[in-house]
Amino acid sequence: LKGITKQTTMINQTENEMRVDIAVTIHKAIRKVLFDHAMLLARTDFRSVEATREAHANLSRTLLSLREHAQHEDAVVFPEIAEAHPPLAAEAIRQHDELEKEMDKLERLSSLAVIATPFERPTFAKRLRAAFNDFVAAQLTHMSFEEETIMPALWETHTDEQLRDMQGRIRAAIPPERGQHWLALLMASADAAELAAIGG
Ligand SMILES: [Fe+2]
Repeated sequence: LKGITKQTTMINQTENEMRVDIAVTIHKAIRKVLFDHAMLLARTDFRSVEATREAHANLSRTLLSLREHAQHEDAVVFPEIAEAHPPLAAEAIRQHDELEKEMDKLERLSSLAVIATPFERPTFAKRLRAAFNDFVAAQLTHMSFEEETIMPALWETHTDEQLRDMQGRIRAAIPPERGQHWLALLMASADAAELAAIGG
């Protein structure tokens, strides 16, 4: 029986791999946004107020992208999950709330670094880097949950056509100037097959 169960799991896995996945490609772009800012923070010379301001401006751009992406999932993806899997949808919403609180904290910490005296700034820099690295870890765990738990749940209840329709609704909600920004991120993080599917 064990052997059969294992075989069935493998077949399901292979079947799932053939399905339309609306999470993995955009999450590559999200990881790029996260890692790019983590590297910028790692290199920033916080003794300079100009460099500290530039890091703060980049944090704002980073959080804007992350919030846009979360709003798309809140508006289009989670309501679709809620119908068949209420506890899963509740967990996804809880994770977004938690991450939003973290983003608020990061913004406050980064603002404090900007207005700090040169004497105080290294302390804030240290805290900001540590807090951002913890935030990256939480985001990575969250995206794995969406890819490994939310997507398979959607495959159970939605056809590929319905999934493409959800993707289309998200794209339609993005204003043109932000569309350019997201396309550039995807071009820098997706593989050739994904780019062909996007039409890029
Ligand atoms: Fe999410």
